[in-house]
Amino acid sequence: MKVLLVGGGGREDALAWALARSPEIRTLRCAPGNAGIARYAERVPIAAEDVASLVAHAVAERYDLVVVGPEVPLVLGLADRLGDAGLAVFGPSAASARLEGSKVYAKEFMARHAIPTAGFRVFDDAGECTRYLLSDEAAYPLVVKADGLAAGKGVVIAPDPETALESAEGMLSGRDFGDAGRRVVIEELLRGREASFFCLCDGVRFLELAPCQDYKRAGDADTGPNTGGMGTYSPSAHLGDDSRAFLRDRVVAPLLAGMAAEGHPYRGVLFVGVMLTPDGPRVLEFNARFGDPETQVLIPRLDGDWLPLLRAAAAGDLRGVEARFRRDAAVCVVMTAEGYPGKYAKGTPISGLDAAEAIEGVVVFHAGTEHDAAGRVVTSGGRVLGVTAIGADVARARARAYDAVACIRWEGERHRADIAADAV
Ligand code: AMP
Ligand code: GLY
Repeated sequence: MKVLLVGGGGREDALAWALARSPEIRTLRCAPGNAGIARYAERVPIAAEDVASLVAHAVAERYDLVVVGPEVPLVLGLADRLGDAGLAVFGPSAASARLEGSKVYAKEFMARHAIPTAGFRVFDDAGECTRYLLSDEAAYPLVVKADGLAAGKGVVIAPDPETALESAEGMLSGRDFGDAGRRVVIEELLRGREASFFCLCDGVRFLELAPCQDYKRAGDADTGPNTGGMGTYSPSAHLGDDSRAFLRDRVVAPLLAGMAAEGHPYRGVLFVGVMLTPDGPRVLEFNARFGDPETQVLIPRLDGDWLPLLRAAAAGDLRGVEARFRRDAAVCVVMTAEGYPGKYAKGTPISGLDAAEAIEGVVVFHAGTEHDAAGRVVTSGGRVLGVTAIGADVARARARAYDAVACIRWEGERHRADIAADAV
C-alpha cells in the first residue's frame, strides 16, 4: 500500500511510527512532516493547510489511503475533495468536522440530540450579548467561546461581567479572532476533572479506544497559561467503566445516529473532551481528529496494527476489526521551548535523543523539529518533543519517561515535572 499522512506534529510522528510498522505499507509519505517523521516517512513539502496542493499531489500519486492528522484541512474540506477524486481518506468530511470547527454548530447539535453538555446561549449581536451578560440570567463565573477555530485560544473563563464583556466584545467585533469570533457561545462553567475519550467511527458504528488524561496548563500543579497539552498518560485513572458506558450510550451513539440522520455520517476519529462533574460526564468539546499529545500514548498501547483500523474507518465499515489495548500504561512528557505557549526561539540544537531512546520502552516523538544545514536536529516549534514510555503500570512508565527526559538537552528546554504524578 501507498499511504500519505498529512500533518507535521507529535501526533503525526506517532501515527508515522505506527504506520511504518505495518507490514502492508510499502510507501509512506508525510506532508509536511518534521525531522522525527523523516525517520519513518518520506517528506513531501506541502503545508497541511494547503488543500489544493495536497489534493493535486494525492491524486497524481494515487495513494491507497490518506490519513489526515490536524483539524484545519478537515474543516477546509480535504476529506471531501479527496473522496470526490476517488481516494480513501481517514478523516471526516467538512460538514462532519463542523463538530470541531464551529462551537455553535456543536452546541446546537448536542441540544437537538439531548447530548449532555453545559447550558449555553449563542450571540452574534454585541448589544444582545451585553444585555445578557449584565442580566440576572448570567451566573458568574461563566465561559465565553469564539465559534470558530482559534488554535486553542478562543475560550475565556470569565469570573465577572467586566471580563466577559471585554472578551465577547473582542470576539464579536472580529478584533481577536477575525471571522472565527463573529459568533460567540456563552456557557455555564462546569467543575470537575477533564478527560479525553476517543472512538473510531465508520458513519454508523464505533470502536472505543483507550481513554487518556491530558495536562493542559504550562506549569506544574496546573498553574500558568493553557497550552495544547504538556503531557498525557493512558489508561485514564479517572474515566472508569461507568463513565465510559455513559459516554458510549449517551454521547457517541446519539451523535452517530444524529449525524447520519442529518445527512453527515461521521467517519474518522471522534475525540470527546469530557468534564467529569459531580452530576456525571458532560461534553466540553468535540474534536474531529486525534488528540495531541494523547495520540503519543494511544498509539504505542495498541496490541496490533493501526492500519486496518484506520482503513476500515475510512472505508466506512468497522465490522470485523477490533481495537485491543495492552494492559501496559503509557506516559508522554512534552518538552517545550522556553516561552511556549507565547513567543519562543527556534533553531536550537537538541542533544541526547539517542541516549533517551536507548532506554527500554521509550520512544521520542518529534513535534517541532527540523534538520539544520549541518544535519543536526534543531527545535522548530513551541512543543518540541513528546517523550513517551510504556511500562507495566503508570509508575513504571512515568519513571522511564522522566529518565529519558533527563537525557535530552537544549538551551531553553522546559517541561512539567508532574505529568501522571497524581496517578501513581
Ligand atoms: P474547548 O475548546 O471548548 O474544549 O475549551 C478549552 C478548555 O477550556 C477546555 O479543555 C476546558 O479546560 C475549558 N472549558 C471549556 N468549556 C468549559 C466549561 N463549560 N466549563 C469549564 N471549563 C471549560
Ligand atoms: N490535547 C488536546 C487536543 O489535542 O486538543
